Amino acid sequence: MLTRRTFLASAGATALVPAVTDTATAAAPSFPEAFLWGASTAAYQIEGAAREDGRGPSIWDTFSHTPGAVTNGDTGDVACDHYHRWRGDVDLMRRACFSAYRFSVSWPRVLPEGTGRVNPKGLAFYDRLVDGLLAAKIRPFLCLYHWDLPQALQDRGGWHNRDIAGWFADYAGIVADRLGDRVADWAMLNEPSVVALFGHGLGGHAPNLKGRASFFLALHLQNLAQGAALARLRSTRPDLRLGTVLNLQPVRPESDSPADHQAAVMWDAVWNRSCIDPLLKGSYPDIVKGDIEPILGHGDLGIIHQPIDFLGVNYYSRMVVRADPHGMFGTAWGKSSATHYTAMGWPVEPRGLYEQLDEIRRHYGNIPVYVTENGAAYQDVVTASDRVEDADRVAFLRDHLKMVHAAISEGCNVKGYLVWSLLDNFEWAFGYSKRFGVVYVDYPTQRRIPKQSYHWLAEVARTRRLA
Ligand code: FCB
Repeated sequence: MLTRRTFLASAGATALVPAVTDTATAAAPSFPEAFLWGASTAAYQIEGAAREDGRGPSIWDTFSHTPGAVTNGDTGDVACDHYHRWRGDVDLMRRACFSAYRFSVSWPRVLPEGTGRVNPKGLAFYDRLVDGLLAAKIRPFLCLYHWDLPQALQDRGGWHNRDIAGWFADYAGIVADRLGDRVADWAMLNEPSVVALFGHGLGGHAPNLKGRASFFLALHLQNLAQGAALARLRSTRPDLRLGTVLNLQPVRPESDSPADHQAAVMWDAVWNRSCIDPLLKGSYPDIVKGDIEPILGHGDLGIIHQPIDFLGVNYYSRMVVRADPHGMFGTAWGKSSATHYTAMGWPVEPRGLYEQLDEIRRHYGNIPVYVTENGAAYQDVVTASDRVEDADRVAFLRDHLKMVHAAISEGCNVKGYLVWSLLDNFEWAFGYSKRFGVVYVDYPTQRRIPKQSYHWLAEVARTRRLA
């Protein structure tokens, strides 16, 4: 069966060698003055304080506390303790000359039951964080949903209950009422296709549901909720810049066979286009209409199809697929031809980022884009002199930034680059076993050790040049 784990494993061995596997196109070194530099994080992955100040449980609390669900039995109970250490974390970004930071708001911290009663202490935390960011001259990009659905809403059907569109719009309105005077940039969702696939299709993420119909329902209702929240905020707060964050990955067939080709068309429709097309074009790809039509309510597409001010693009690698009649979508993961892999087993393919940005320019109206996640897990070690020399991550970031630069040179409307992630953190089903941060976290002491990649990125942010 396909799972996030088997995808990772099938991608090949983990070679920790820094290298460019794709040749960069023209790579003039300097970025526009207004280009934003920064980092992304997510509430459940860093905050901890899971039972503090009135926060309600989320589906990731439930899932991570389920024996066997997460590597080493890790949970987000403490994570990076960012809830208490956020001042120091903001200062790390200030010292790195970061001009932007994407964080997510924990829905159950604000609304412990998902709807109804607001938790003032939850909102107060984000209030302090936003003020701290602004004082450090860092522009906050607020993401409303990065996977930690209130468990109380899961108990009412979660992403399978159409009422969630209204629940989510209400929650968006509550957060915007409190922070909209200081936060200009609002992202609705993070990676709805990952939530649909691993949370509701194949399993492996909370709430660990399975099935093709389950996948499409969760995907469609995320699209619907996103549209409802966009419409709500647009009407109540016309001053805000509204967008969303999608994980878009160029899809390649494993071979030239017509069957593999068809598998790639299908997978591109399932993974990429079923998110971006309804939002920006008002329709689902033809190839998935048989799955969508039975669940499509009257007027749904009108709600989903909303103007947005920016698109966040998360990019880690391309995807290779092949035909497999036993696969949930008639597809299976294929073998990448990449020569280098991260510690996740993900192929290192910088050129795929260029291709994705170019695709948005050519087919989606060249709307303003922020690369809202890009980065790599490697097996970092702290040296005797207390340093983390992650040259492999530096190479990864440099090679991807060259592609961002090439895309801008070709006319792509890319406005910023936010690394995943500021800190090592709770990497979902992998727990703390995978480190993506540019800052190392020593979990037993919570000490932060800026890695070589942090210092490198700080220099790039300061000079706007790729060294
Ligand atoms: C993305 C998620 C993010 C993190 C990175 C590695 O899919 O949005 O939370 O887990 O992968």
